[in-house]
Amino acid sequence: MSQTRSRVAKRKFDVLVIGAGGGGLRAALQLAQAEANVAVVSKVFPTRSHTVAAQGGMNAALANVLPDNWHWHMYDTVKGGDYLGDQDAIEYMCRAAPRLVIELEHIGVPFSRLDNGKIYQRPFGGQSQNFGGEQAARTCAAADRTGHAILHALYQQNIRAKTHFFDEYFAIDLIKDDEGYILGAVALEIETGEPLIIEAKATLLATGGAGQLFRTNTNARINTGDGMAMALRAGIPLQDMEFFQFHPTGIAGKGMLITEGARGEGGYLINGEGERFMERYAPHARDLASRDVVSRAIATEVREGRGCGPNKDYVLLKVDHLGADVIRKRLPGIRDMVRTFLHSDPIDTPIPVFPTAHYTMGGIPTNRFGQVVAPQQQGPEEPVPGLYAVGECACVSVHGANRLGGNSLLDIVVFGRAAGNHIIEYLREHRYTRSLPEDGAAPALERLARWQRRGEGESVDALRTELKRVMEHYCGVFRTEEVLSEGVQKVREIEQRLQNVYLQDHSAVFNTARIEALELENLVDIALATVSSALARKESRGAHSRIDYPERDDVRWLKHSLYFKENRQIDYKPVRMKPLTVESFPPKARVY
Ligand code: FUM
Repeated sequence: MSQTRSRVAKRKFDVLVIGAGGGGLRAALQLAQAEANVAVVSKVFPTRSHTVAAQGGMNAALANVLPDNWHWHMYDTVKGGDYLGDQDAIEYMCRAAPRLVIELEHIGVPFSRLDNGKIYQRPFGGQSQNFGGEQAARTCAAADRTGHAILHALYQQNIRAKTHFFDEYFAIDLIKDDEGYILGAVALEIETGEPLIIEAKATLLATGGAGQLFRTNTNARINTGDGMAMALRAGIPLQDMEFFQFHPTGIAGKGMLITEGARGEGGYLINGEGERFMERYAPHARDLASRDVVSRAIATEVREGRGCGPNKDYVLLKVDHLGADVIRKRLPGIRDMVRTFLHSDPIDTPIPVFPTAHYTMGGIPTNRFGQVVAPQQQGPEEPVPGLYAVGECACVSVHGANRLGGNSLLDIVVFGRAAGNHIIEYLREHRYTRSLPEDGAAPALERLARWQRRGEGESVDALRTELKRVMEHYCGVFRTEEVLSEGVQKVREIEQRLQNVYLQDHSAVFNTARIEALELENLVDIALATVSSALARKESRGAHSRIDYPERDDVRWLKHSLYFKENRQIDYKPVRMKPLTVESFPPKARVY
């Protein structure tokens, strides 16, 4: 393509938000209400963003059902993350949670109710009262469609606040100047295939995770790690990418999410022998242990021949004993899903489940204000001027090595708001738009031009399918040096083969095919970051389970990894163990 910068359309805003899930929309709302001129770019219509799929709820110590307080929530989150989370950010999040749930209620989120009119809260995995005592009930729910309810409310509030939306625009790359300032991004209008330069004084990445790395996953097809890959190409490392969460209860063989809320409501898992096997793995919390523990337990039952079905390759989630009323009232979404995809009804038939790729714990390193922080050339870590990231594409890090269910909706709301507030300050200090360098948009436009090529060669779809199989096989629930090394090689081969990929010559689908090619490039970069970081970490912690290094090793490995695209270098940085106001929770044995 010969599009030069002068011929590419250009728009200018105070703030560019890339991604219209809960994190992006919560930040945009804060900014628009402060009268900043804010644009949101989304590759799908905003209410189709993946937040819409979050089922079970959002954690906050409201104590509506059982005694609770934010400090217990903080403890559970630190322990759930296997002590890798940054405790200042965790304290900040858990303290803010109750107020922000009430704020959501006030902007129209239709939470389920208790008989006394208060917000309904259900028990979720890894929650406790009194620092590891009895089960807590901390997850505020709108039946099993909580993300849907939150996303729609945030979208409506943004429309009201006059946020500008670029719907169905795909962000290609960030624009950076010689002093390292991020000045916006180049996007592609999907319908027309026309590029657009969007200049902004500050840019916020809120593009979600990369669940499409794996064959079976709970994620929308759009979750291809676009923002993380943009950050990598801008020279920013990705943090803790070895930690990928497998949700214990995906529909077996298909991957769709069956909410942890099903177990929160009293559902439980059984193996092929009809045994409640979680009693052996987590005697106290049983089916409501943290996700990494439950996923490993299911995978172990199947590996050791105690699975269900003709191939003994799944376990069963029983909810039929809960009664039709509870299922209709509290779990209507999963009932619909099971009826649609399995042609059975959970009111009377247990659900076949197996762990499924769910959540990217790692991501773009940020502080608790949403500022992207990265090591400067040969120097210490500093904020990247004009660049922010929140939500699943970011690593703040509140989830450490394993996220607790119900903490992701909380994360996006808390840090979306915090980033919005910090950007408002940043705009006060940076009142003028810096000029775009002459060739600032060139790398993005060149990348786009590469995907003009049509003809015979490998297809995007076939290579994407292969990448997902490779990641599932070589970077799954259980890992070893040998398997991971092979995985790195396989992904590098796929990276090479990407050079021989051509778009099929069907002009009617040309733009969407081009988007899929750009997404595949992003996925390959994220796959390399994930499998390489997993190979490098020689311990087991949270979701990263090495059969060859089965113990957590706090002496050598209590540190965050940083993966750089250049030279595929991996570096490390300390965990922030010091909370804001309370004593830190030092690492101890993690039992449920
Ligand atoms: O199980 C679920 O409803 C998922 C919730 C979450 O990932 O936070």
